[in-house]
Amino acid sequence: MYSTVYSGGINGIGCYMAKVEIDLSRALPAWDMVGKLSHEVIEAKERVKVALKNAGIVIPPLHITINISPANIRKSGTGYDLPIALGIVTALGFIPEDILEGILVIGELGLDGSVAPVKGILPIVSAAAAHGFKTCIVPNENAAEASYASGINVIGVSCFEEAMHTITDLSDASYVTPRNIAQMIATQDFEEDFSDVSGQAVCKRAALIAAAGFHHMFISGPPGSGKTMIAKRLRTIMPPLTVDECIEVSGIYSIAGKLTCDDPIITRRPYQSPHHAATLSSLTGGGYDLHPGILSLCHRGILFLDELPEFSRECIEALREPLENKQIQMSRVSGSVSYPADFLLVAAANPCPCGFYPDRNRCNCTEHEIRRYNSRISGPIRDRIDIIVSSEKMDISGLTGSSDPNGSSEHMRGLVLKARSIQEERFKNTPYRYNSHIRAADIGHFCPLDEESMHYAEEVYRSMNLSARSYHKLLRVARTIADLEESEHIRISDLAEAVCYRT
Ligand SMILES: Nc1ncnc2c1ncn2[C@@H]1O[C@H](COP(=O)(O)OP(=O)(O)OP(=O)(O)O)[C@@H](O)[C@H]1O
Ligand SMILES: [Mg+2]
Ligand SMILES: [Zn+2]
Repeated sequence: MYSTVYSGGINGIGCYMAKVEIDLSRALPAWDMVGKLSHEVIEAKERVKVALKNAGIVIPPLHITINISPANIRKSGTGYDLPIALGIVTALGFIPEDILEGILVIGELGLDGSVAPVKGILPIVSAAAAHGFKTCIVPNENAAEASYASGINVIGVSCFEEAMHTITDLSDASYVTPRNIAQMIATQDFEEDFSDVSGQAVCKRAALIAAAGFHHMFISGPPGSGKTMIAKRLRTIMPPLTVDECIEVSGIYSIAGKLTCDDPIITRRPYQSPHHAATLSSLTGGGYDLHPGILSLCHRGILFLDELPEFSRECIEALREPLENKQIQMSRVSGSVSYPADFLLVAAANPCPCGFYPDRNRCNCTEHEIRRYNSRISGPIRDRIDIIVSSEKMDISGLTGSSDPNGSSEHMRGLVLKARSIQEERFKNTPYRYNSHIRAADIGHFCPLDEESMHYAEEVYRSMNLSARSYHKLLRVARTIADLEESEHIRISDLAEAVCYRT
């Protein structure tokens, strides 16, 4: 007596299709489970036994062998419970075997036979659709999430018996349909708005440039001057995620177990602001059961590190790799996995430990203390930040004056979208999306300077003693400024403004 059920699992950020094979024989009664399985997969045996008993199905004393392939990938998680249980009842003859062909089954079983949600459903079901599966049976609580995978019918089940009946009579099944993602993207609004921020014209202009070209940004300034406010409002002016990006980002949240039935898909750009006491593993992810960390949960969105110098050195150093490669590589015994981590970094810091430097009436920090405080952000990290600005202490007239209509999120977003569409056109058929992505070798091509601005750039390079990396950064930021002004060439004024964001 033999049966096969198809399922799937997560391997890093990727997925694999798994085949669960069950063989029942009249040899000495036992359960053998093979196929490079982790503890929780092997524990399925106990859950399945009791769940089947409670569903009124008695397993006769048989030798049960379960093999989950491909054998070279380590399987983890609890999603194999339901396929194993269905495989056993099929091998016992309760369900005709050919019914299971082309169906993906996944779900955790409770002892009472209830089907509980599992992590990673969206990417697994999307992969199944790409592999030609026509239908999937998933836990009810994951059904909305699964429905966003295109090209596959989704059935949600809440208990084992329901799964059995559904499979036996698919003609009666009700499929879950997704809500329209494009519509959800178009109708979102934010509670915060840039019009809440008074004054701080330089910081707001810098935020506009950062959002338009996806440039990393550093804000230094005294306490209570609006640094956190500005960081929180940055995503209100960024271009909305595309539908593909929504699926991509939601896949990461799915693997991290952060999608719920109420929020089965991510349609806003992510925003993460970990506390400075965050641990290295919470940022990078990894760990025993390999999961994406905060740096991946803000993929395509914003990572806001408030009080950057207060973060541990190892956390700050861990930013290097994602800032350079836009991904995080994790090594483990059985190989390595990588998680995407293409975020816009906004870092904020006080200028000194007390926060009030250079106001020497209030700041008593010594030169040494100030230098030590700032040296916690190492050179290589500073070097990867494109835009550096200072927020000013607000005077009362700035706080009470009427707000500038050009400073609203709606107005700023309009400018960003224009610059974005220029970049879209520029980067057609290239791997780039934003000006900040342009590699050194392509800078000359995408950031052309006329003769006059070339002279100016050379002058700046010499007088500011720039590194090649800083010089390229300058050109990328100037490119974005020119795009905001809808100028094809980078002009002296664009370069001059970009220079202001390096000092
Ligand atoms: N430019 C501003 N316009 C309007 N309100 C402001 C401004 N700056 C500060 N505030 C007010 O002060 C509060 C604190 O601002 P915010 O948290 O952004 O300051 P911060 O610079 O991040 O300070 P800290 O260094 O202490 O983190 C805000 O909630 C807001 O009420
Ligand atoms: Mg703050
Ligand atoms: Zn001080």
